[in-house]
Amino acid sequence: MKERIPESGIIEDQELAEYYNLMAKRYMGIPCQRVLKRVSAKGVEKGRAIDIGTGPGVFPIFISKALPEIRFKGIDLSPVMIELAKRNAIEAGINNRIEFEVGSAYSFPVEDHSLDLVLCINTIHHLNRPVDFLNEAARSLKEEGAFVIVDFHRDASFVFIGIFNLLWKAFFGKHPKARRGFLESVYSSYTIEECRDFLERSRLKRWKLYTRTVEMWIESLKPNHPLSQFKGTLFW
Ligand SMILES: C[S@@+](CC[C@H](N)C(=O)[O-])C[C@H]1O[C@@H](n2cnc3c(N)ncnc32)[C@H](O)[C@@H]1O
Repeated sequence: MKERIPESGIIEDQELAEYYNLMAKRYMGIPCQRVLKRVSAKGVEKGRAIDIGTGPGVFPIFISKALPEIRFKGIDLSPVMIELAKRNAIEAGINNRIEFEVGSAYSFPVEDHSLDLVLCINTIHHLNRPVDFLNEAARSLKEEGAFVIVDFHRDASFVFIGIFNLLWKAFFGKHPKARRGFLESVYSSYTIEECRDFLERSRLKRWKLYTRTVEMWIESLKPNHPLSQFKGTLFW
């Protein structure tokens, strides 16, 4: 198993951020649909939501358009990304009901137990203190609040990593600065066992952890789900 190689910080390079934005808007339709499906499966249709490490805001904008009664806030450490997200919200015509601001995954700009939904897509691999992030989610969510967290896991099969790396190169990796992006993100991600350990050490409850090819999904179980009596459940 490869040692984790943390990916260098946040995307602040204007040219790279613009390129990421363009590619995300062009190719993230299906991933956005998949996340929306999981959000809908949890019965979340309205209320307050936050997206952590929002980048250009493609995921919360997509979900806000589908579920107009959700009020999203997207936060990211990169001011360049936040400006792009604001621009995308204006283009989508929903800037009156979605907010974007610079903020950290370790300190959400919301009150305790005020959120109905926490979203975090492809960002955990940037975090060196995942337990602190998970505790922030636990602090911010209402008792029955939902969460959907997606990232890569570096113990994925090398066959899947190889296939997805080729797809990345074909669709996203044309810019010289983006070329190694996928592999860097996978090598910076955590293994399933590491993630389970973070979840067990955190204050987050009712979690379900499972894999899909190169992806790792962490989702909330509904409060009345038979498995929600356990702190968390790993589906392998
Ligand atoms: C790979 S991008 C994902 C963007 C978006 N979620 C998506 O899937 O299109 C990861 C984002 O996390 C942000 N980020 C990294 N560390 C962060 C932190 N500690 N707090 C908030 N955002 C962070 C980066 O600036 C970057 O925009």
